[in-house]
Amino acid sequence: MAKAVLGVMGGSGVYDLPGLEDIREERIESPWGEPSDALRIGRIGDTPVVFLARHGRGHRFSPSGINYRANIDVLKRAGVTDLVALSACGSFRAELHPGLFVLVDQFVDRTHARASSFFGNGCVAHVSLAHPVGPGLQKRIAAAAEAEGIVVQRGGTYVCMEGPQFSTFAESAFHKAQGFDVIGMTNMPEAKLAREAEITYATIAMVTDFDCWHPGHDAVDVASVIAVARANADRAARLVARLARDFPAEREDCPAGSHRALDGAIMTAPAQ
Ligand code: ADE
Repeated sequence: MAKAVLGVMGGSGVYDLPGLEDIREERIESPWGEPSDALRIGRIGDTPVVFLARHGRGHRFSPSGINYRANIDVLKRAGVTDLVALSACGSFRAELHPGLFVLVDQFVDRTHARASSFFGNGCVAHVSLAHPVGPGLQKRIAAAAEAEGIVVQRGGTYVCMEGPQFSTFAESAFHKAQGFDVIGMTNMPEAKLAREAEITYATIAMVTDFDCWHPGHDAVDVASVIAVARANADRAARLVARLARDFPAEREDCPAGSHRALDGAIMTAPAQ
């Protein structure tokens, strides 16, 4: 079996990974273009860990401007087998309050201006995405949270909007009525591309706000997102550190099939 390498994608407010040791920075070339930043490669305990700031340090890339393909490609080239995405999000449910971590297991992709596949004309592939989150990885995240005394909500649907503007009231009410749990701007196409790269993916969606549907709360703005994200960062780092310390040395098979997503997915006949 392959050696397990844990990847961590830092979202808004998470631009480094406290606890990462023996760090070296590496800029890996990708045929898909420029990733958001250099990789920070190190270890936590005995587990190799690779960190990438999704928006780049200093938050230089907007959700639509992130090169998701290059980001996933360089993580794959660095050997990442399992990727934990740390992502700020708005909430559509009163009980999913700011500060709570939600381990979402489904995504709805409402983006429309992003390259969302490594495949295309010349090599056509259709991977399965019924279960976009690796259940085994999510279980390990939940166990790490419990060990650290961090409350998490297990399960939920994350709707990914294009942005960069936040939602109108009508959009927010619509998303809530659809039964979505949280909203963000970045987990799609990231989760799709991770699956195409046969990387197991799981999200820790960190609630920062109630979007704009809640009559008892102000509409979301950047100041509130950043304030809550900063307050969350310490807990997120503790959770990831525990996850890494308890991570298996060898890659585990993913019940959702992430580790062999391309088996049988390629439609194009091999060149003769
Ligand atoms: N990220 C954090 N809060 C958000 C919201 N309300 N909508 C979209 N992305 C977000």
